[in-house]
Amino acid sequence: MTRYLVTSALPYANGPIHFGHVAGAYLPADVYVRYLRMAKGPENVLYVCGTDEHGVAITLKAEQEGLDYRSYVDRWHKDIKGLFDRFGISFDMFSGTARCKHHVDASQKFFLALHEHGFLQERTEEQWFSEATSRFLPDRYLEGTCPNCDFNKARGDECPQCGTWVDAKELKNPVSLIDGSNPVLKPTTHWYLDLPKLKEQGLGAWYDGEDAAHPIKGWKPNVDGYVQAMFKDLHERPITRDLPWGVPLPEGIEGGEGKVLYVWFDAPIGYLSATMEWAEAQGEPEAWKSWWQGEDTRLVHFIGKDNIAFHVVVFPSMLLGQKDAWEGKAMVLPWAVPANEFYNLQGRKFSTSNGWYLDNDHFFANFDADAARFHVLMSAPETADSEFSWQEFQVTNNALLADKIGNLASRVLKFAGKRYEGHTPEVDAAVVDDLRHHDSLQEADRQFEAVGTHLEAQEFRKSCHALVAGSAALNQFFDAMEPWKLAKSDDETERARCAATIERCIAYLELLSRRLSPYCPGAAGRLRSMLGACADLADGSQWGLGAVSHVPAGLALDEAGVLFAKIDDDTIAAECERLEQQAAAQA
Ligand code: 2FM
Ligand code: ZN
Repeated sequence: MTRYLVTSALPYANGPIHFGHVAGAYLPADVYVRYLRMAKGPENVLYVCGTDEHGVAITLKAEQEGLDYRSYVDRWHKDIKGLFDRFGISFDMFSGTARCKHHVDASQKFFLALHEHGFLQERTEEQWFSEATSRFLPDRYLEGTCPNCDFNKARGDECPQCGTWVDAKELKNPVSLIDGSNPVLKPTTHWYLDLPKLKEQGLGAWYDGEDAAHPIKGWKPNVDGYVQAMFKDLHERPITRDLPWGVPLPEGIEGGEGKVLYVWFDAPIGYLSATMEWAEAQGEPEAWKSWWQGEDTRLVHFIGKDNIAFHVVVFPSMLLGQKDAWEGKAMVLPWAVPANEFYNLQGRKFSTSNGWYLDNDHFFANFDADAARFHVLMSAPETADSEFSWQEFQVTNNALLADKIGNLASRVLKFAGKRYEGHTPEVDAAVVDDLRHHDSLQEADRQFEAVGTHLEAQEFRKSCHALVAGSAALNQFFDAMEPWKLAKSDDETERARCAATIERCIAYLELLSRRLSPYCPGAAGRLRSMLGACADLADGSQWGLGAVSHVPAGLALDEAGVLFAKIDDDTIAAECERLEQQAAAQA
């Protein structure tokens, strides 16, 4: 049986995450795993993530705030996990690279295996050193004049004015951001991952889909474009740093004392160490192996487009370079890397420092997480940059979720409440059989089938559209049948058609609750409760079943409640105003 090991990029424990991040790497992954658990069985799906807790950006900010590194990342770990909980992201394990007790061992083992297999090169080069604090200053610890445009606040890795990548050694008049001193150049040794060699020895064949042992789903155009360009100029990459915080180099590596692994080297190993932590929590510490070394595993990395190089070139190289180091068995390689583009907010980039963001506390105190999930996924930046707009959120909530789904449930259940005293009606099987061929029900069947096909293909926006189209077809069925007229007829045949209409609507509402469940788990659960005893007709955790073929008479239905509350124009106007004021205050 194929098993799915799904990951979302480890967010840096270095600040709040916002809707833009959620739209790119977390919500699509969560909907995918919720679907997979239903379609393939929960035992065949594992979803791991955690916070990325090392690296220069973190040490620098912790030092600037006067906090020790651990307290600093602990604070952000908690904050980030809090937002994921509000969005209902259903990780099987959410760990963190500085908190997972397997992480240091696993990362050091990766380094050693690459070293032993000849995939690392040792180089000694000059780097800026602060004599005032006796420490090397990696890229972002430095500020100076850009060698390209002369902007005097360029960083040691990039110039914010002209956007060019800066080689720290070429920065003019460098100043240490920590102590304000002028650093000097001093030799230091680092280890480089030999990507060209790894490409020759398997990475290239895997990427091209020619490695039968490590199949791929096929690359999205944005991924392929990026990687093909990278392959044209592939070079060795340094994977160690002189920093006081991170995974230390393994003992026994000469010259490695006091150095740590580069954050981008240890971060993806966080997927593996989080799996080890999950396995241990299950009471089966060895269970990680069947996921990371199993022939049937499909490893799927959900990421934003800025992480493509590390997930499609660097991490697969690291996995491949392990060869037989892990008890003689090779590691799996990614099967798919659905990388998303960027998600903006009303025409501009999300930015906490510019006040251009959605305040998470305020949002979740006032709006429904299910509606947010559906809207963000439906507008996710799958093939091009996209954005959250308050007006579009209102349309999704009111015209799609409330009108197409909530209203249908309410109309059917209210009708059954009045006409059949809150129970399922007695039906004539022949009349029900006749209705099965109704165009609208057949359209609903096609669309609800397509929801799964699109989810399988990781086409999330299309899957949302199919779900809405299926619900629209059910509304058309109800409207076309006009059960309110049939019910009043003196003709018994007409009344039988009324009962059969309601019977089919209930069967399809049950199906709709299951199709809705990966997207809007809360609302889907509420819909199932409203269906009362009818929800027991099908196992709510099963995807594959179609609409129930026969709803027995006399089953008790619950009251129709509100599945999605409408959002009025004034509320949307107030939110737009709030955003503008937030940005103005920050400016
Ligand atoms: O870009 C980022 O936010 C990184 N922290 C992602 C790391 S993904 C992985 F490899 F762990
Ligand atoms: Zn510049």
